[in-house]
Amino acid sequence: MNPVHLTLSESQPMPHARTAEPRATGSAHAKGILVGEHAAVYGHPAIALPILPLRTDAELRHVPGPLSLRADGISVPVTELPERFASVGVAARAALDFFDLAHDDVEIEVHSDIPPRAGLGASASAAHAIIEAVRAAADAPLSDAQRYALVQQAERVAHGNPSGIDALATRARRPLIFADGASTPVVIGAPAWFVVADTGVRASTGEAVAGVRAVVEADLPRGTALLDQLGRLTREAVTDLEHGRLSELGGRLTAAQELLDALGVGHPAIDRLVAAALAAGAVGAKLTGAGRGGCIIAMTTDAARAETVRDAMTAAGAVAGWVLAVEAG
Ligand code: PMV
Repeated sequence: MNPVHLTLSESQPMPHARTAEPRATGSAHAKGILVGEHAAVYGHPAIALPILPLRTDAELRHVPGPLSLRADGISVPVTELPERFASVGVAARAALDFFDLAHDDVEIEVHSDIPPRAGLGASASAAHAIIEAVRAAADAPLSDAQRYALVQQAERVAHGNPSGIDALATRARRPLIFADGASTPVVIGAPAWFVVADTGVRASTGEAVAGVRAVVEADLPRGTALLDQLGRLTREAVTDLEHGRLSELGGRLTAAQELLDALGVGHPAIDRLVAAALAAGAVGAKLTGAGRGGCIIAMTTDAARAETVRDAMTAAGAVAGWVLAVEAG
C-alpha cells in the first residue's frame, strides 16, 4: 500500500472550502482478530474476521452551527467531545479537510451496534463510517490507501500506535491476513463457526498496547520470544485454515491465549468464558482484540455446537454473544 501523508488542520474552514451535499451516509462493521493481536503491533502477521452483523452507520446533514457529532439524541460540537470520542472528531475533521469541505453547518449522526472498548474495532468502524459519509457528501473518489490513511489518523488518537489491522478489517468482506500494513484474503479450506462473546469488562486498547510494551521491555528476550511464538502460531493458523484443519487450528488459538496471558492482557472474566467455551465443545478459544476484558472468540466445527458454546458462555457471564459462520472459499 502506498503511503499517503495527510495532515489534520487545526484551523477552521479555509476560505475556499466547498459546502457538503445536504445529506450523505456511510457505514462499516466490526471485526474480530482470530490470532495475532498485539504481535501485529511488532510487525508479526494477524488474522482478522469481519463481523458484518455489528455495524456503525453515519449520516451527515446540514445543521446550522459548528461541526458537531450526534449520538444517542445528543449533539456535541467536535471541539467539546469527551476524550473517549476524540478519535471520531479527528475522523470528521480530517475527512472534511481532505475533501476541502467547510466544517461549519455540518452535523454527523453516528449510530453503532458495536460495544465500545470491547476489542471489536468500534473506533475504526466509526471512523470509516464518518469518512465514507463525508466522501459521499463531497461526491468525490477516495482510494483505498487514502481511506486507510484517514482512518489511521483517527486510530492514532484512539490507540496511540495502531498496527492498522482494525482500519483494514472493519471494511473487509472476507477474513484476511494482515501483515506490514497491508491485507490479503485468507483461503478457507473448510467451513468454520466462530462465537464472539463479550465479557462486559471494558478496557482501553491504548493502555493494553502500552502494557504489553512495558512487559516486553522489562525482559526483552522473554518478551520477544512470546511475540515470536504468537507470530509463528499465526502463520501456522493460516495454513490450518487453508487446509481445513480446524482442530489443529483450535489448539493454536488456545495456545495463543496462554501467550497473551503471559504478555499481561488476560483477565479473570476472559478465563471464565474461555473455560466455558472449551467445556462446551469449542475446539479452541482465546481473547480477541486488546484483551484485559473485552471479547473472546471460540471456534467450533458445526453450527449447532456454536449455539451450545454461545449458551455456555452466556451462562458463564457473557453479556452478549454472536455466531459467525465462515464459508469455505
Ligand atoms: O482495538 P482492538 O481492541 O480491537 O485491538 C486492536 C488489536 C491490537 O493488536 C491489540 C492493536 C493493534 O493496533 O493491532
